[in-house]
Amino acid sequence: MTAYCSRVIGTGSYLPQRVVSNAELAAKVDTSDEWIQQRTGIRQRHIAADGELASDLALQASRRALEMAGINAAELDLIIVATTTPDMVFPGTACILQSKLGVKGMPAFDVQAVCSGFVYALATADQFMRSGQYRHILVVGAEVYSRILDWSDRGTCVLFGDGAGAVVLRRSEQPGILASRLHADGSHAGILSVPGSVCGGAVSGRPLLQMDGGAVFKFAVKVLEEVALEVLEVAGLQKSDIDWLIPHQANIRIIQSTARKLDVPMEKVITTVDRHANTSAASVPLALDEAVRDGRIREGQHVMLEGVGGGFTWGAVLIKW
Ligand code: UT7
Repeated sequence: MTAYCSRVIGTGSYLPQRVVSNAELAAKVDTSDEWIQQRTGIRQRHIAADGELASDLALQASRRALEMAGINAAELDLIIVATTTPDMVFPGTACILQSKLGVKGMPAFDVQAVCSGFVYALATADQFMRSGQYRHILVVGAEVYSRILDWSDRGTCVLFGDGAGAVVLRRSEQPGILASRLHADGSHAGILSVPGSVCGGAVSGRPLLQMDGGAVFKFAVKVLEEVALEVLEVAGLQKSDIDWLIPHQANIRIIQSTARKLDVPMEKVITTVDRHANTSAASVPLALDEAVRDGRIREGQHVMLEGVGGGFTWGAVLIKW
């Protein structure tokens, strides 16, 4: 039987036009550019316009990924969207995206794994691809966290931004995605959550993000090292084989600690957190697209993608480019 793999043949991303600096936030809450940069590495974030939805950001990122892949949306066999800020409770944002892409018929569903969402979606797509059932899969991470932030809480509102990133996978007999591992531990649900919901303007519970930043920080640093080592072992590779590390972009200090533990110099780490802040499920594909388009990621290199976030969820995907 033929062994199939997933190769990334296109990447794309999209950031809303409006850029909000730390100074602009410091005019609204008791914070400063200095504190935000020192504690997080964030200088600015992009914020969606009124009425701009996760599916709109996803559409722009998807079009760019399809263009690079050189295929039409009609050639897609599956669409997966990772988002925690969907357009509505249902239908899924993947279905809305499918319609905006002007196609129908292929399955489309959302993955909800918060900041690990893209890595979860990519690993899921890879399993479908390995089954040999599909030839082209679109995987998107798209978020509008600006809608679920308490803009009076300086402890959280300075940390997040909006954006989307996408990849197109093609079935191949050459790798491709070498290995992936996913994890969750629901007993930590309380340290990062949005304990409420909104539908048709009706709010129940508190539909705004709350977080124990310190606990999240410690957990993230621990599991980002563990899961990268796990995936390297599955692939039969060493830490020194990592050409590019793309961890979830939440805080530059988490990224630096992870890189240090994995003996990866910061020159081999893709970082966008300074300009994008934490865009949750969109952070990894946004960073990936940037490094593909500026020529840093080249054929034959090993790229380690890592996600960690609410749930708690975490995971890693190792790709041979
Ligand atoms: O995608 C996964 C989701 N999130 C994350 O990965 C975030 C993980 N956590 C973090 O990035 C960090 O824990 C934070 C950036 C959230 C906080 O950094 P920290 O070094 O852990 O600071 P802290 O929470 O220990 O707070 C230090 C001080 C506190 O004041 P006191 O109690 O020492 O007087 C906070 O009230 O900083 C204060 N503080 C702020 N000051 C100015 C908290 N937020 C701000 C702010 N501006 N925006």
